[in-house]
Amino acid sequence: MHYHQRRIWHVPDSRHTPEAVYAARKLHRRRFLAAMGMGAAGLGLSSLVSGCHRATDTEVLEAGKVDLPETLGERADDPAGSEYDRWEEAKDNKFGARRNPHFEYGRPETKQEEAARYTNFYEFSGGKANFAVVDDFEPHPWKFEVTGECGKPQTFDIDDIYKMMPFEERAYRHRCVETWAMCVPWTGFPLSKLLEKVEPSSGAKFVALQTFDVPNEADEKAGLPTFDGPNMSSVLFSYPWPYTEGLTIEEAMNDLAFIATGIYGQPLAKQHGAPIRLVVPWKYGFKSCKSIVRITLTKEQPATFWNTYMPHEYGFTANVDPEVPHPRWSQETEWMLGTMEKHPTQKYNGYGEHVAELYRA
Ligand code: MTE
Repeated sequence: MHYHQRRIWHVPDSRHTPEAVYAARKLHRRRFLAAMGMGAAGLGLSSLVSGCHRATDTEVLEAGKVDLPETLGERADDPAGSEYDRWEEAKDNKFGARRNPHFEYGRPETKQEEAARYTNFYEFSGGKANFAVVDDFEPHPWKFEVTGECGKPQTFDIDDIYKMMPFEERAYRHRCVETWAMCVPWTGFPLSKLLEKVEPSSGAKFVALQTFDVPNEADEKAGLPTFDGPNMSSVLFSYPWPYTEGLTIEEAMNDLAFIATGIYGQPLAKQHGAPIRLVVPWKYGFKSCKSIVRITLTKEQPATFWNTYMPHEYGFTANVDPEVPHPRWSQETEWMLGTMEKHPTQKYNGYGEHVAELYRA
């Protein structure tokens, strides 16, 4: 683990406010400065001088778009055995996945462009308009390893994952600790199906997930993915790179813990964590580690990015809970991307029937 030096970065007041700032509510000063850095990097000095350009929906969707290989190969087995054949084809799903009927949003689906416009991906910027700064990120070819306390540690190529895993589409609610929420369809498979392939040993008590290292320090020798950088706003702060998150082994083996390779039937857009990420819908969004390069089964609870950076603000478990306020704001309500519609926050983000059992003493 290494730390970036904090740089003095002065953005004159005369510059206009970039989209990421006015789109976000109650921005903390630190975030505001980061977003200003992002604005300069992503939208270009000319747009800062000439006025505010709000990217069109088409521009947003095109910016982070990723293609799949020509052929995906045969699906190895069906996610739900014979039940799977009765599931409906998911609409326009490039992976040929069916929609799991056991999951419903209970609210309108968030528009694809609204989800793509407003993302958290600190490796690229501290703002939300990451779609504007992910251009140099190349998520293919891509390898990731699954290692640690297991009988068969392995390195997987994303192209093999496309061929060997049983894909399904799941409609999940997502709740960020910052109080924004979205309803999006992910394509992928339960994390447990991946872990089974490496045969976890009895010593495996936790699962640590890691993103590629910060831009200009990715370890090319180790074969880890890299891209040109650095991004201006991501070097502003002393973050404990690389981004890491963790689950207990029981949480990881729960059917809800999902590995996504797609969103809205398409391969994951770059800003959503292409080509492979975690989705744990009963926990705050920061647990859902993007662009994974390593999964490690461990004996001890792993250190995590936010918990290391601000230990008094972000715990390891981080289950969605309206009754536990963030030290700086209430968690009682949430607002939906795109519509700004407000909803009361639900314990476990409404997934208690699937996960509450994990937390009974
Ligand atoms: N993973 C990495 N590597 N870097 C990040 O900054 N942000 C997290 C999570 N995963 C983050 C990450 C946070 S705070 C949230 S809310 C979700 O990704 C957001 O997912 P989305 O941007 O695809 O909606």
